[in-house]
Amino acid sequence: MLTLKGISKQIGGLRAVNNVDLSMGENEIVGLVGPNGAGKTTLLNMISGISIPTSGTIIFDNENITGLKADRICKKGIAKTFQIAESFPGLTAYECTMIGALFGNHRAISMADAGKKAIEILDFVGFPMEKRDTTIKNLNVVELKRVQLARALASEPKLLLLDELTTGLNPKESNEAVDLIKKIRDQGVAILIIEHVMSVIMGVSDRIVVLDYGEKIADGRPYEVVNNQKVIDTYLGDIDAF
Ligand SMILES: Nc1ncnc2c1ncn2[C@@H]1O[C@H](COP(=O)(O)OP(=O)(O)O)[C@@H](O)[C@H]1O
Ligand SMILES: [Mg+2]
Repeated sequence: MLTLKGISKQIGGLRAVNNVDLSMGENEIVGLVGPNGAGKTTLLNMISGISIPTSGTIIFDNENITGLKADRICKKGIAKTFQIAESFPGLTAYECTMIGALFGNHRAISMADAGKKAIEILDFVGFPMEKRDTTIKNLNVVELKRVQLARALASEPKLLLLDELTTGLNPKESNEAVDLIKKIRDQGVAILIIEHVMSVIMGVSDRIVVLDYGEKIADGRPYEVVNNQKVIDTYLGDIDAF
């Protein structure tokens, strides 16, 4: 459903992403890992239309979406959560989720239907009932992550891009997030997830892709990738994430 061909992003004198090929099938969960600064967020930003590739092509559902704006790409069925969850500080959790429903991947819906959908999805992600009318700026990190996920899901994506969804969560909360990610996939959504905690990545991914200095250095099944010597030398050797 998604194919990246030779995607690069030049930022000033830096090749933040360098000639990356990547494909994803429907219903697949792909984990994207690599050291800080490897280009993971930049790659997700290009897929979601937040930034435009310097070169290369992005095909989604047999259509060339390279260079389309983020709102157009969202309507085609790609939604993203952000590494730093800061959008709409003055809206309530409920309103923020409604935005996803109103501007998502489907025909125009009424405010009443968007409201119903927001409640359904806040329930699905386990967002606490008593916090639904609390403003975004007054939520804690766990609640923020859930409402971001709810907003992304409310747009009914076919492909969900998750940037460090479990960063800042404790092990129990991370496990809950893993269960939720699997539940989302079971509803027919493909997921590309950036994550540092290897137990999370190993627990959810059908396939793992490793970036280093903007280049793809590995792409394969989880156990192949974590046993790949180049991956151990450049990434896994440095972290004690297990
Ligand atoms: N807007 C920007 N301006 C300048 N440099 C940037 C910008 N965005 C990313 N970079 C640089 O591009 C590289 C890749 O960054 P990023 O994609 O955020 O990496 P990751 O998410 O893997 O940690 C880093 O060296 C980062 O400093
Ligand atoms: Mg990042």
